[in-house]
Amino acid sequence: MKGFLLPTTCALMLIVQATARGAPSTSLRAGAAPAGGAQGEGPLPDAPGKELVEIKCGSCHGIDYLAPSTRTVAQWRDTIAVMKNSGANASDEEWKTVTEYLMGNLAYLNVNKASADDVRLVFGVPEKVAQGIVAARDTQGGFTSIDDLKQFPDLDQKKIEAMKARLSF
Ligand code: HEC
Repeated sequence: MKGFLLPTTCALMLIVQATARGAPSTSLRAGAAPAGGAQGEGPLPDAPGKELVEIKCGSCHGIDYLAPSTRTVAQWRDTIAVMKNSGANASDEEWKTVTEYLMGNLAYLNVNKASADDVRLVFGVPEKVAQGIVAARDTQGGFTSIDDLKQFPDLDQKKIEAMKARLSF
């Protein structure tokens, strides 16, 4: 009976306590999110930018802190901002690479609600292609499944299939 701490306050306190102990142990994150994202490549999927992410995001805590995770694009944006405030530093070019890696390989996206910029990042396509997808989506009143993404020749269908767990409609 310690007064009336809200559950969120308790969770925050746990994080603060963990942080105060220094580098968080891997066991701290165990079971934090459903497994199944990475496929036998360690916590992070192999893709361009991975090495940089390991360097930039693995110095204060392990990269296991990054995945598996069900963070959305918006949540990754927030996390990146928090890390910048916590002292993570990189050049603009490096932040761009890190952001593209995180969004393209880890971020979850609601395809029907996403902005063209989020579509660009998550699908790893040029801006024009992303704008075309969003325009088509809005014209047809939204997509219903990844099958709707098959109409876009600029999207790599194998890649879409592989990332379907991260997509919702
Ligand atoms: C200067 C040290 C530092 C660097 C570099 C760093 N982090 Fe962190 N990170 C922290 C600290 C401290 C926490 C602990 C909790 C908090 O402040 O949210 C943390 C927590 C996290 C979490 C867990 C947050 C949660 O809500 O569970 C994620 C995800 C994360 N970092 C991602 C990253 C990514 C991505 C990068 C690279 C861009 C990065 N970190 C680089 C210090 C750092």
